[in-house]
Amino acid sequence: MAIETNKLQSIISHCKEYGFIFPSSEIYDGLQAVYDYGQWGAELKKNIRDHWWNSMTRMHENIVGIDAAIFMHPTVWKASGHVDNFNDPMIDNKDSKKRYRVDHLIEAFSDELQAAGQDDKANEILTQMELLLSKDDFIGLKKLIETNNIKCAISGTCNWTDIRQFNLMFSTEFGSTASSDEEDNKVYLRPETAQGIFVNFLNVQKTGRMKIPFGIAQVGKAFRNEIVARQFIFRMREFEQMEMQFFIRPGTQKEWYEFWKTERMNWHVALGIPAAKYKFHDHAKLAHYADAACDIEFEFPIGFKEVEGIHSRTDFDLKNHQEFSKKKQQYFDNDLDPATGKPYGNYIPYVIETSIGLDRMFLLIMSNAYEEQDLSTAEKQDSRVVLKFPVKLAPIKLAVLPLMKKDGLPELARQLMDDCKSHFKCFYEEKDTIGKRYRRMDALGTPFCVTIDHQTKEDGTVTVRHRDSMEQTRVAMSEVKSLVLGSF
Ligand code: GAP
Repeated sequence: MAIETNKLQSIISHCKEYGFIFPSSEIYDGLQAVYDYGQWGAELKKNIRDHWWNSMTRMHENIVGIDAAIFMHPTVWKASGHVDNFNDPMIDNKDSKKRYRVDHLIEAFSDELQAAGQDDKANEILTQMELLLSKDDFIGLKKLIETNNIKCAISGTCNWTDIRQFNLMFSTEFGSTASSDEEDNKVYLRPETAQGIFVNFLNVQKTGRMKIPFGIAQVGKAFRNEIVARQFIFRMREFEQMEMQFFIRPGTQKEWYEFWKTERMNWHVALGIPAAKYKFHDHAKLAHYADAACDIEFEFPIGFKEVEGIHSRTDFDLKNHQEFSKKKQQYFDNDLDPATGKPYGNYIPYVIETSIGLDRMFLLIMSNAYEEQDLSTAEKQDSRVVLKFPVKLAPIKLAVLPLMKKDGLPELARQLMDDCKSHFKCFYEEKDTIGKRYRRMDALGTPFCVTIDHQTKEDGTVTVRHRDSMEQTRVAMSEVKSLVLGSF
């Protein structure tokens, strides 16, 4: 698999030039691994978020959504294991003083080998790394780095410190920072949204009269002090997660794990993205809470990488919250157990989690959509950049373009805008030649452009220009709204 570094660079430039994504606080030279979504990026992101939310909470009658706070009681993170276990092995280069996450350093080296056509060696190094990571063998990992002469990108040297663990949570203080009880005031920015769901499990179950199996979904910000953060929005310090915890009867976790693996892969492929660009990757080293886990990986321009995790979290979280809070986290199941003929009774549910990064899904959609096309003919040179977004996710669905700024054409165009704009996002533009306007809409991924011309005045028809095929068809202006609505 070729690493398309140039493609990622082109996407980054395109995102900035067309108002999708800007570096955060750019006028102050940006803030590493933090980004702002611009006018079209915010629309695309919202469409992805809404699509996920609706797929979870509307298409599954037994899943409801919540919106928990980012700040949580500090004990939540002790109970969840994040204070003790949310660490990554890091290594510092003694010459550049630059710190790397060990797995990212080795993965980047393996990507370089792959780009140079040394696929076997690249895979062998990754396999060795996974084995050593699964055993927390830091001496072995350092040896792997040294024997392969893996260098720091800045100093170019192989002069490494020993490997140490660093916690990835950001912390801040509630109240006065001058307090002597600093530890008491310490609160964390949540590193995952899932815990907001766990601590509300009984609130939702009781108030919603939910029966197991059922799910709770949530979309929200999460924060991690990522050390290596070079890959645009792939790895950020502030990002958004779309997570769903599915509460089940203990002993049924294997079948539900398989169910959610299939369900989530189908969700991705149903967006029209080729199945060949996806694969599952089983975790060799399980997180502290899981008894089975896999990633859904996508072929990004930087190689196959994780976009979503599916984790069988057992009763780890609820059991620990019960222990730390001293509040029972049990569910009474009055369904009859066929083995005993009696109700299953009280138990702490097991959980299957699906967890997808919204920003990563954004990058996936962008990478899959981005195409540079050479349209040159014998007569003239021509090209375009087109974003082939799935219509339901496109930031703008319809561009309304009067051919000229006169002769009553803008008025007709405004009528069409008024007919459509409460149903989907429309964009009105009367500047520039029609060709230039089409190209601009291609670059924003707008699936339909409608041109209002003099014939519209005579017979009420307009030209509909289709983004992907560039085909133009003549349809009644009154039918444009249903044509667009029928396409997503
Ligand atoms: N609650 C489980 C959990 O947080 P995870 O595998 O650490 O699991 C889930 O994260 C998803 O969140 C990942 O698959 C990825 O899409 C996204 N994600 C994690 N860290 C990220 C980061 N630093 N920047 C952007 N997205 C991230």
